[in-house]
Amino acid sequence: MWAIIGTWAMVKNGIEKANNLLKEGASSKEAIKIAINDVEDNPYFKSVGYGGLPNKNMEVELDAGFMDGDTFDIGAVMAVKNIKNPIDLAIKLSKENYNNILAGIGAEAYADQNGFERCNMLTDRAKDKYFARLKEDRAKLSAYDGSDYDAADTVCVCALDDSNNISVGTSTSGLFMKHPGRVGDSPLVGSGFYANSEYGACAATGMGEDLMRHLISYEVVRNMKDGLNAQEACQKAMEEIDKKLKAKREISDLSIIAIDKNGNMGAATNTKEFSFVYASEKESPTIYLAKNIEGMTTIEKASEKWFEEYMSTRR
Ligand code: GLY
Repeated sequence: MWAIIGTWAMVKNGIEKANNLLKEGASSKEAIKIAINDVEDNPYFKSVGYGGLPNKNMEVELDAGFMDGDTFDIGAVMAVKNIKNPIDLAIKLSKENYNNILAGIGAEAYADQNGFERCNMLTDRAKDKYFARLKEDRAKLSAYDGSDYDAADTVCVCALDDSNNISVGTSTSGLFMKHPGRVGDSPLVGSGFYANSEYGACAATGMGEDLMRHLISYEVVRNMKDGLNAQEACQKAMEEIDKKLKAKREISDLSIIAIDKNGNMGAATNTKEFSFVYASEKESPTIYLAKNIEGMTTIEKASEKWFEEYMSTRR
């Protein structure tokens, strides 16, 4: 039995490639790499890899994380520049005994020592968006009240392979106009991602500062350990984070995906619409829309027309 789930419709092509690999017996780790690389390499997706939107100094800084739910190998990179595929670096680091999580120039030096491809990740399109934002928001940019930041659409993938191994990976350029050096949830184990092959895996997208406050990915896997399936586990964790944060502060847009040990998909959101892609031995890659309606997440299939519109806005 294999199954795979990824955040946002941008991952559809990657999930198709990964699903074909899983069909041929590839590991969940290989599936995650292929699916995430596809998004990282696509210049049209402005929140991940090449074409990702820059920080306040017009530098693209990238975060990525990986966890193997069988061995509990973890690897992550934070605030790295000019690394073509940050998820590959995170996966490589997960095989080290120590120094599994590297930041900034240390991570870049490790990449160079290990032959990872470097690439200028700032596209002309991303530069145009940067200058447009400066123009429209110059006054607000110095305020740092949070209202300038677009929540990042992280690509997250959870996969179960035929050997019952579950893994999870994430990759993002983080918030547009973030402070240089800012790190979100995506490379943080337990917040942005978590996997345990005995129960399942979860990953998160949205405002990292909020996702971290609840260790949301760990919470979802813990809910699965308590016997909930992937959907029930996601719904419970989303209700809890929403209630907990709203009692104390404003809450941003948050969404999560999960897969359980039986290959069931799960998703929850506190937004009006969050897209994700799921495929399994029983189902070809399908785009779903999760919607928060009065605190509950409802899930429906997206139409082809919806996907065409989604892609046309990216292009
Ligand atoms: N969730 C991605 C970030 O906050 O950077």
